[in-house]
Amino acid sequence: MNADEAAQYNLLNHFPCAKKMRSSFWIISKTCHFCTSSVTNKVIPKKLKARSRSSQDWLTRQLNDPYVKLAKYEQFRARSAFKLQEIDERHKILKPGQVVVECGAAPGAWTQVAVSGVNSLPKDTNRSQGVVIAVDILSIHPLPGAVTLGGKDFTLSETQQEILNVLKGRKVNLVLSDMAPNATGTKELDHENIIALAYSALRFAIQHSDLQSTFLCKIWSGFRDRQLITDMEKFYRSVKVVKPPSSRCDSSEIFLLGKKFCGLGTK
Ligand SMILES: C[S@@+](CC[C@H](N)C(=O)[O-])C[C@H]1O[C@@H](n2cnc3c(N)ncnc32)[C@H](O)[C@@H]1O
Repeated sequence: MNADEAAQYNLLNHFPCAKKMRSSFWIISKTCHFCTSSVTNKVIPKKLKARSRSSQDWLTRQLNDPYVKLAKYEQFRARSAFKLQEIDERHKILKPGQVVVECGAAPGAWTQVAVSGVNSLPKDTNRSQGVVIAVDILSIHPLPGAVTLGGKDFTLSETQQEILNVLKGRKVNLVLSDMAPNATGTKELDHENIIALAYSALRFAIQHSDLQSTFLCKIWSGFRDRQLITDMEKFYRSVKVVKPPSSRCDSSEIFLLGKKFCGLGTK
């Protein structure tokens, strides 16, 4: 089994609904301006010449990524939805009635998963209704069931004050951070920048979370991982490094999951 077949096999087993799409998975719409390589069956976009190398790679990867197709089918705003779904399936972090603060939420795929997981719409009136507050420095298209704070830098105290205003004294049960800085291409610098964003979310979480709450953040792995994990261990009874199947294996992206917040200075 080659890498493509393995990915497809994993996906089909992971998502029952993907089976419905089985026949159309790798078929390219005749109306699209793409061509396929007869050898690998990979979709190669036309008119790549005007683009930079990294943009060419990105486009080719998107066109050949089954999660991108599945995200469209499931009406998720981005393929990233599957990362949170998979983490939740495995680690059970979303529960009806929870108060969730989501940092780095645009375009809103994690928000869609969170809204459904905490029943903030609410779809099920027999279960407790949760709250989802989604923040991003970019604008976020409104999403029923979530309070969206678009165009707000999460690291600023005025943004965090706005979140507290929405919370009206309620404690948070889950802080999610999928924040990512614009990549500079310099690995160490990008790592430093994303770690700074993760610390900003962690600081907010330990100040405003309820006991036993959960913290999940994305980082690009590097030399400061260990320090961040050690700092999380000061406040969370369990800290795990998580890499969901839909996170590309050639990406340095990992997620740190802290469970069972012990409170400030209690550990
Ligand atoms: C990988 S994307 C998030 C995708 C999102 N979780 C989803 O599933 O749709 C990372 C996001 O972090 C946001 N971001 C980066 N720095 C930020 C900051 N200081 N404050 C808020 N958002 C930030 C970016 O604008 C970007 O939208």
